[in-house]
Amino acid sequence: MPQSLAAGSSRVFNSYIRVSHTSRSDWRLSSKDQLYVKKIRNGTVIDHIEPGHALDVLHILGINGKHGEVVSAVMNVESKRYRRKDIVKIDDRELNPQEVDKIALIAPKATINIVREYEVTSKKRVQLPQTIRGIIKCNNPSCVVNAREPVTPEFKVEVPEPLRIRCHYCGRIMGKDDVLKQF
Ligand code: CTP
Ligand code: ZN
Repeated sequence: MPQSLAAGSSRVFNSYIRVSHTSRSDWRLSSKDQLYVKKIRNGTVIDHIEPGHALDVLHILGINGKHGEVVSAVMNVESKRYRRKDIVKIDDRELNPQEVDKIALIAPKATINIVREYEVTSKKRVQLPQTIRGIIKCNNPSCVVNAREPVTPEFKVEVPEPLRIRCHYCGRIMGKDDVLKQF
C-alpha cells in the first residue's frame, strides 16, 4: 500500500495541499495515487525539484494552505532524468522572477512549466546566476551588509551543487542550509 498523507486538505477551506510519499510503482499504478499527479488546467508546475525540497519551495512561495491556494506536492518519486525528484503544482498562479531565483538556490535543476488550458505553454529550467544580489543576507554579523548603512548583499556562486556561495564583502562561505534559514 502506498504511504500517503494529506495535510490541510479540507475543501471546506477551499484550500488543500496533498503530500505523497510513494514508490514509483505505487504512484504510477494506484488509482488512488493518480489524484496526486492529476494534470492541472492553468497554473505552474515546478518539476525536477531536488528530492525533499518540495516543502521548501512552498515556503519560498509563501504557500501554507491558508490562503485558498490549490496546491499539490509530490515527494521522492522516481524521475526519468534524475534518480528522484519532488514536484509542486500550483493552480492559477505564475511565479515572479525573484521567486524563481530563490528556487534556483535550493533546486538548481528545477523546471518551471507554465500550463494554460492543460497545455504546457512554457518550460524553463531555473538558472542559478554566477552572482546573487539582494536575495539573501550574509550570516556574518560583522559583515558590512549587516551594518547600519545598508549595502546590497552580494554573493559569488562557487559551487552550484551542493551549494557553496561566498560573500563578496567578507568572504563568508554559506551553503544551502544557511540559505534555507533565511526563507
Ligand atoms: N503537467 C501538469 N498539468 C498539465 C500539463 C503538465 O501537471 N496540464 C505536468 C506534468 O505532469 C509534468 C510537468 O507538468 O510533471 C511537465 O509536463 P510535460 O512537459 O508534459 O512533461 P515531460 O515531457 O515529462 O517534462 P520534462 O521533459 O520537463 O521532464
Ligand atoms: Zn559577508
